[in-house]
Amino acid sequence: MRIYKAKDYNDLSRKAANIISAQIIMKPDAVIGLATGASPIGTYKQLIEWYKKGDLDFSEIRTVNLDEYKGLAADNPQSYAYYMHTNLFDSVNIPAENINIPNGLEFDAAIECARYDTVLQKLGGIDLQLLGIGGNGHIGFNEPGNNFDKSTHCVALTENTIQANSRFFDSIDEVPKFAYTMGIKNIMQAKSILLIASGEAKAQAMYDSFYGPITPSCPGSILQLHNNVTVVADEAALSLIL
Ligand code: F6R
Repeated sequence: MRIYKAKDYNDLSRKAANIISAQIIMKPDAVIGLATGASPIGTYKQLIEWYKKGDLDFSEIRTVNLDEYKGLAADNPQSYAYYMHTNLFDSVNIPAENINIPNGLEFDAAIECARYDTVLQKLGGIDLQLLGIGGNGHIGFNEPGNNFDKSTHCVALTENTIQANSRFFDSIDEVPKFAYTMGIKNIMQAKSILLIASGEAKAQAMYDSFYGPITPSCPGSILQLHNNVTVVADEAALSLIL
């Protein structure tokens, strides 16, 4: 595991975008796993800037998103599909057919999870998976206590995560209570992982993930068992570590 300390959020975003762009340059048809949330917004902005300057080409890459709220349509402004289009896809040249996101509108969890696992399998695995981390150590929507051996599944979100996500909704009642997520098993099968974290609210989760015991009570701790993890985090997020 490599940990890079960034000066601030801008520096973090630039470093993370550099790692993603190196992957795309070295393997133009790479399979890139993507995350949503606040952490990657600056990274996506930087990638868009380089694309617009003509330094990056997304025409062959394939993308797979980590997760999606169950019950939200792709055109719902709170859905992760909408987020991805607004923050990245609509501004670069990724062909629509190369984009993969769990379908929040599939009511039958067994059908959707099996479909998404098949998508991942047919793509031949993820070359680089971008991850954020929750204040409670969750990765994707794999919450504390969730088994490490799961592939794509439907989760009931914890109160902690519902609270954290409520900032994106008009009221907490509108936050969906279930989500589809890649499981720890899918994440651990990625050939390389890039985890980004910013702010003091992530400091404990970062400590527990990289210096604590490997335990489902801190899902991020499983990353200690992956042999190609790069962490880019700002000083506040690393304050308990470095
Ligand atoms: C998002 C995801 C989540 C977030 C995590 C951190 O697709 O899978 O695990 O990465 O909740 O969110 P932010 O970046 O908003 O702090």
